[in-house]
Amino acid sequence: MITEKITKMLNKQVNQEFYSAYLYLQMSAFFEEEKLSGFAAWMKIQSGEEYKHAMKLYEYVLQANAKVELQKIDAPKNKWKDVLDVFHDTYKHEKQITGYINEIVDFALTEKDFATFSFLQWFVTEQVEEESTALLILDKIKLIGDNKTGLFFLDREMAGRART
Ligand code: FEO
Repeated sequence: MITEKITKMLNKQVNQEFYSAYLYLQMSAFFEEEKLSGFAAWMKIQSGEEYKHAMKLYEYVLQANAKVELQKIDAPKNKWKDVLDVFHDTYKHEKQITGYINEIVDFALTEKDFATFSFLQWFVTEQVEEESTALLILDKIKLIGDNKTGLFFLDREMAGRART
């Protein structure tokens, strides 16, 4: 059994992950509008990954015999200047999510809730990858600058995720 406070934090994280899925789906729609189908496909897959993260937490709360309490999902931002702006937000968002995960990990330790601590290690590792991927793409976009041909090829590279 997990404590009420940990349950509340995990439920909040379920909401954060669903929000991430929503945000990335909105970004995918933005890329569709911009005719960047590779970026759009990449973001749609990322949205699906976030849904899986939410469900992983959801299943854990149920398994711990605690109460799942789904919260309202906020509407994400839906306007960006360009690709760079989107990935600035993506990287910033992932850093924020890492912060939330770390808070729960930290609290689980103070409570000596080793089961939750152990469960969350998957998220800790995942966040390292999520941040590093977002930063890698952000850096590539910066490198390309205003070069339309560069953006065209990066869009093709992004489409590769959908094929793997
Ligand atoms: Fe579920 Fe991208 O963190």
